Amino acid sequence: MRIPVTVVILAAGLGTRMKSRKAKVLHRAGGKALIEHAVETALKLAPAERIFVVVGYQAEEVRKAVAAVPGGSGIGFIEQREQKGTGHALMVAREALAGLEGYLAILYGDGPLLRAETLERLVERAAAGCPLGPAAGVLLSAMMDDPTGYGRVIRGAHGWVHKIVEQKAATPDELAIREANMGIYCYRADLFWKHLCEIRPDNPAGEYYLTDMVGILDRAGHYVEAVEIDDPDEALGINDRVELAKVDAILRQRKRRELMLAGVTIEQPETVVIDAGVRIGMDTVVEPFAQILGKTVIGADCRIGACSIVRDSELADGVEIGPFTIVGTSRLARGVHAGPFARLRMENLVEEGARIGNFVELKKTRMGARAKANHLAYLGDAEIGADVNVGAGAITCNYDGLRKHATKIGDGAFVGSNSTLVAPIEIGAGAYVGAGSVVTEPVPPDALVLGRARQVVKEDWAKKHRALRKK
Ligand code: UD1
Ligand code: CA
Repeated sequence: MRIPVTVVILAAGLGTRMKSRKAKVLHRAGGKALIEHAVETALKLAPAERIFVVVGYQAEEVRKAVAAVPGGSGIGFIEQREQKGTGHALMVAREALAGLEGYLAILYGDGPLLRAETLERLVERAAAGCPLGPAAGVLLSAMMDDPTGYGRVIRGAHGWVHKIVEQKAATPDELAIREANMGIYCYRADLFWKHLCEIRPDNPAGEYYLTDMVGILDRAGHYVEAVEIDDPDEALGINDRVELAKVDAILRQRKRRELMLAGVTIEQPETVVIDAGVRIGMDTVVEPFAQILGKTVIGADCRIGACSIVRDSELADGVEIGPFTIVGTSRLARGVHAGPFARLRMENLVEEGARIGNFVELKKTRMGARAKANHLAYLGDAEIGADVNVGAGAITCNYDGLRKHATKIGDGAFVGSNSTLVAPIEIGAGAYVGAGSVVTEPVPPDALVLGRARQVVKEDWAKKHRALRKK
């Protein structure tokens, strides 16, 4: 039986220690905003209608980020206008949530390393009850070498939790305790709402601490359990940018490990950056210092060259990206070669077996199957047919200072080196453009176009010129 559980994610705070104008949960780690990580984890546990995010600082932006998560559109929001502490966030949520039966899981939006399986285990444990009787709640704890900044878990004689003390309110003895509160809880909803109003802001910070709930339930004769997490890294919460970088590194490491175990070769993995949402097929090789970002999907047997950046793009099987190549929002079909030193800027479609060589820029361009632009070209807003050859230095003049215009090149055409195609323009299938031509009029299929000054040869001109100098 699935346990009925409501999930509340606290994400209202500014995050003063980030020293930022941006809300803490909008900062990114592993290629996603912190709030996206929390929401994805929650969605694995509960349906969207039973998930609520407490928003406050930059509420509108946080709402947008939540709604953009796949499956996140049904998630509810609770506005906490003034942030008077984690306990206060739940007080604000009371009206909307107190009617929902079952269990109440609470997580903080600043802990993106939490795994869904861990949260699931927590809920199961809460529902199963503890050996002493039915538990009122279960919290996750971690043994930390340095728990500075975290709340400490104070256990009673039989091992259940007596209370949690915050860093600022702890005695020296309590500060010596290494078991830290992760900020992830699962409570019996009825007991939680019954006792919530007993939280008082009687601490040095003057805040309503959610962590006081444990002591309150304990005093009322209920049991609260602490489940120690296996991997203490999962416990890291982000309060400043040093922790942000640390968590980002762990998320990247997790992603690379997952890909390597699934059959992707990553050379010098510690130098490679791959976002959480990226998918890569078997036997693909990723060379050192590559960055694969956003929603990129890469097929099997590809190679991503050293120092390349691939963002929000789709690469079919057998694609080779040479070193120092940048690919953005583009689709590359099977067997395409691009780079080294190429830039496929945006919205390109490169069809099977086409080749894009060094110092070639593509923008909103379709390259037909087996078409080639091997060196030094700019191809923008262009429809290029199959088997077209674009010579070195050829460019589309797609911009007249006011508007962008299209270039069309038919199948099998040959565009000579250094030609200038002034758009809007159409080159027919099988036509030849002579090297160095400036083409301003349409070229019919199979024609040769020469748009350049005729060559003039003056016999012995240089000899006479030198003779003049000697006089
Ligand atoms: C909190 C816990 C601490 C625990 C640590 C784990 C409390 C009192 N302390 O401390 O025991 O070890 O997390 O990382 O809960 N928030 C709101 N509204 C508020 C205040 C905070 O929504 O009024 C949100 C924040 O946006 C943040 C989360 O709650 O996402 C946690 O707040 P934070 O201030 O970072 O708590 P910590 O001091 O880290
Ligand atoms: Ca925190």
